Amino acid sequence: NSKHLDTMKKMHGLLAKLYHYCLTETDFGKDALAYLDKRGIAKNTIETFQIGFSPDSWEFSTSFLARRGFSLDDAEKAGLLSKRNFDGKLFDRFRNRIMFPIQNAKGETIAFGARILGKGEPKYLNSPETPIFNKSKTLYGLHLARSSIRSKRQAVLFEGYIDVISAWKAGVTNAVATLGTSLTEEQAKQIRRTAETVVVCYDSDEAGVSAALRASEVLESAGCYVKIAKMPDGYDPDDYIQTYGPKKFLGEVIAQASTQMSFKMETLRRGKNLLDEGERIRYVEEVLQEISRLPKAVERDHYLRQLADEFSLSLDALKKQQFQYYLQSK
Ligand code: GTP
Ligand code: MN
Ligand code: MN
Ligand code: MN
Ligand code: MN
Repeated sequence: NSKHLDTMKKMHGLLAKLYHYCLTETDFGKDALAYLDKRGIAKNTIETFQIGFSPDSWEFSTSFLARRGFSLDDAEKAGLLSKRNFDGKLFDRFRNRIMFPIQNAKGETIAFGARILGKGEPKYLNSPETPIFNKSKTLYGLHLARSSIRSKRQAVLFEGYIDVISAWKAGVTNAVATLGTSLTEEQAKQIRRTAETVVVCYDSDEAGVSAALRASEVLESAGCYVKIAKMPDGYDPDDYIQTYGPKKFLGEVIAQASTQMSFKMETLRRGKNLLDEGERIRYVEEVLQEISRLPKAVERDHYLRQLADEFSLSLDALKKQQFQYYLQSK
């Protein structure tokens, strides 16, 4: 019932404050603070995102919640405690990790994303699905980003918490992220409620590229205009901002984000030597196959002309071959 849910949210709110206090005001947080500093996350950002630290203890959160009179069974159901298999004893789920509070659209903390300091597995430990936390309906940063999304009529979608945080420092305040899963229809609809256009800004590794294309399909189905940002191979948005700075990120990644089709063309180009005749023709054919999948005649025409210009080919030949691909795919 709703009282139950309120209690779970209350526990999250109190623990978020406690973890934040541990990070910023106590010796427990020293290493975590140094780690964040090394990653370019300074005091004011820690405040904005209420980042925290869970001490290296099996009972820090458990005993805090007990002292505050909460039912530990509820805390376990809320994903804050774990149960030891052999005797059912409850212990802290989050230990020795940097804590990113995850808020719902109202700004209530309903879960945590927790990063290990440095290397190790799992890199992120997230809250499980609970009565107050549905991963596929939640977007990290949405509450903070909402007014900025509304005034810009645009949202920028990232893969990771740290990307949202770095982007925010760079002035991209309309930033949200999924929670380690692919973008769902519900999340896309939620974004569509405040944004007209969405810039998908995922990691530039292979997984990121295919996830960006999938996310852009989901967003288009939800009625958003979609652009995809391109980054050099091997970078994620946070890496890019750390290496090249905010100005280049805004000017060359966000502002240069382009349509799904140019993103696909860019991806098909990678690793091909277009000065080689055979590879050039193969590239043109791969692009034609993509064009044949476009639903709008105007779009098909636009890209066909672009190809014809770039490679000095006859528009007529391109049209014919594109149409053959279209028929083959039927
Ligand atoms: P940093 O290494 O701290 O910069 O994180 P990242 O955001 O670049 O990580 P990555 O690109 O590997 O992952 C993107 C997102 O996927 C993260 O923000 C998490 O939400 C999620 N994720 C990554 N690793 C794990 C993991 O080990 N477990 C879970 N559950 N989620 C993960
Ligand atoms: Mn503070
Ligand atoms: Mn990745
Ligand atoms: Mn990443
Ligand atoms: Mn990263």
